Amino acid sequence: MFDRGFLYGDSVYEVMRTYGGKPFAWAAHWERLESSARRLGMSLGWTTADATTALKATLEESGNAESYVRVVVTRGAGPIGLDPALATTPNRVIIVKELSSPPAELYERGCKLRIVSVQRSGAGVDPRAKSGNYLSSIQALREALAAGAYEAVMKNAEGALCEGSSSNLFIVRRGEVATPPLDAGILEGITRRTVMTICKRRGILARERTLQADDLYEADEAFITSSIREVMPVASCDDHTIASGRPGPLTRAITDVYRRIATETASF
Ligand SMILES: Cc1ncc(COP(=O)(O)O)c(C=O)c1O
Repeated sequence: MFDRGFLYGDSVYEVMRTYGGKPFAWAAHWERLESSARRLGMSLGWTTADATTALKATLEESGNAESYVRVVVTRGAGPIGLDPALATTPNRVIIVKELSSPPAELYERGCKLRIVSVQRSGAGVDPRAKSGNYLSSIQALREALAAGAYEAVMKNAEGALCEGSSSNLFIVRRGEVATPPLDAGILEGITRRTVMTICKRRGILARERTLQADDLYEADEAFITSSIREVMPVASCDDHTIASGRPGPLTRAITDVYRRIATETASF
């Protein structure tokens, strides 16, 4: 009840999924959890080894074929008050549930995006910290859903495109993959990083570039990424169909390689 994660969103977390029962990119997720905690001046009070053992045990106990995994650490409980020193012992929670992947149709036909009025980093929280404060993402998603879209695209104060409510954004133009730079004010997605690595290894031109709404509207292909969605094609944004409105060849190729890498490398 007096947990600061519950009261103030004063927490950090990670979401990942398993392949063959093992988490993909666990080391990267753990590193980002540590980095998020550092950015918020919070202690995890957890060693890598202990967290890994706890995750293994939770997954084993669940008996799921494949799992959605959420690892949450809050600053802890204490007397009501904003002063972070009021809590001294972090609370740690691992949530594991049966994985429910997005409907296949979204991958076959592509999803619909909506550029929303909600700004990405409105709440004064470092966007590179994956904190429990998701109100701006929730507001962004509400706006997108109300407009009949599947995912929002938030802009920054300069009007450049940032990312989705829970995904990173990519476009493809003339054979080159582009995604907004970290200093646009975004979370450094682990799927995003994997996609950039795939492109580099396969000789696909890929770079971070400031993107405006028109870049997305006029793209040859677009896709969004997240640990649960993996690589999901975009069919349209606002009133603009992206090219033919069908998943493009680079998006399909990157999706296949991503799934293969995730399946082959998932481990503790
Ligand atoms: C705001 C935001 N951006 C991007 C992502 C994608 O991150 P990842 O690829 O690490 O799942 C997420 C994931 O939930 C997110 O919440």
